[in-house]
Amino acid sequence: MQLFPDTTRIENDSLIVGECDLNILANEFGTPLYLYDRATLESAVGTYRRALEYSYPGQGFLTYAGKAFLCLAMAEWTQQSGLCVDCTGLGEISIAVAGGVKREHILVHGVNKTARDLEAAIAHAGVIVVDNLVELKHLLQLARPGSFPDLWLRFQPGVAVETHAYIQTGIQDSKFGMVAEEIVQAANFCRENSLPLKGLHFHLGSQFRAPEPLGVAIDKALDLARDIGLKQSWSLSPGGGWGVAYHEDDLPQPDVGNYIRFIAEAVKEGCQARQLSLPRLHLEPGRSLVARAGVALYRVGVIRQTEHRIWVLLDGGLADNPRRALYGARYSALPVRQPDRPNVAPVWMAGPYCESSDVLIEALPFPEVREGELIAVPVSGAYQLSMSSNYNGARRPAVIWLEGGRARLIQRRETPEDLYRRDSLLVK
Ligand code: LLP
Repeated sequence: MQLFPDTTRIENDSLIVGECDLNILANEFGTPLYLYDRATLESAVGTYRRALEYSYPGQGFLTYAGKAFLCLAMAEWTQQSGLCVDCTGLGEISIAVAGGVKREHILVHGVNKTARDLEAAIAHAGVIVVDNLVELKHLLQLARPGSFPDLWLRFQPGVAVETHAYIQTGIQDSKFGMVAEEIVQAANFCRENSLPLKGLHFHLGSQFRAPEPLGVAIDKALDLARDIGLKQSWSLSPGGGWGVAYHEDDLPQPDVGNYIRFIAEAVKEGCQARQLSLPRLHLEPGRSLVARAGVALYRVGVIRQTEHRIWVLLDGGLADNPRRALYGARYSALPVRQPDRPNVAPVWMAGPYCESSDVLIEALPFPEVREGELIAVPVSGAYQLSMSSNYNGARRPAVIWLEGGRARLIQRRETPEDLYRRDSLLVK
């Protein structure tokens, strides 16, 4: 239950989230279904804010990494919660703008931004994080008199965090960001061309729970800040990446307070040692704000016993959640009916797609389940829908927002027609 949203409880033998019975939601909206519990989103934001205020008073800022999951309602929610939104390129900028995110709350990332990405960023963003020197030159060509976003330079500190190799971003030879010499060149370029250089950014990776590598990267970033003369009202962002527990074996949840305290101390001590003024500190979490607020609901179809396994086949999997296939992510689950039934045997839960990597959960001790039952997978709010696909003609699931005992559809389920809406026939 600790993996589920804060509002989860059992009532009348059924799993309840956000005061809504999951059986009723599945019957009304169909499955697979994704649920977001607003109360859990709010409490995650509150935890970050309190920790920032405690460890870095008055100068801490929070940006939601939209790549974890962005849609109009999420964009709207960020504004109600006073968050900035990190957008990757034109696509996410468009969603943020349509969802009412103001210019000063849009920050744009991207490792190979196209001219259209940069034009959208100039038109709509408060901050552009410049990834490389080529991008900086393109930005100068596109600059017009009038308001121009602040520029932060993305630093590649050459530091690893403990996580899956595919979600390391700050290591040497990574495609992201500039090494120290390039940062110095970029800063000179900004100065010579009167571009508004206001900060430094780095992001070491995602789903890590040991903060120590951040200290090494912060020290390197502060050396650079001193060398390139970032002085008054400057910004430093150590990115996001703080991990979450997906499975009982990962508990307890990594502590956000410890993470922020570690960063704040490293920045304060580092600035004092270098006689630098304290920067505004911008954290950029995605997963640790939204993952636990999300639950995926599936319906059990066929149950098969093979020689060594019990297969529980679900109506979703790889297409709405590629994370196990990509990173070997380990998930847990509960049956919606009588979730406190005793476990009887380990089960393998898989989806309906034509690929053997379409296994969501392996060897999870589970109660006896029957065809037609509902299965709830917790910690499903980040990087599942945003990386979902139409593989095998899968229609992306509906998404429901749970708030005050009400369930609202915030993204309808795709229809078969959506699958060929962009197509044209050769002969007509
Ligand atoms: N800032 C930057 C520049 C990033 O690239 C990312 C994530 C974040 C912030 C937010 O990181 P978070 O707090 O969500 O860990 N698809 C992978 C995760 C890729 C993360 C990419 N960048 C997954 O499903 O685990």
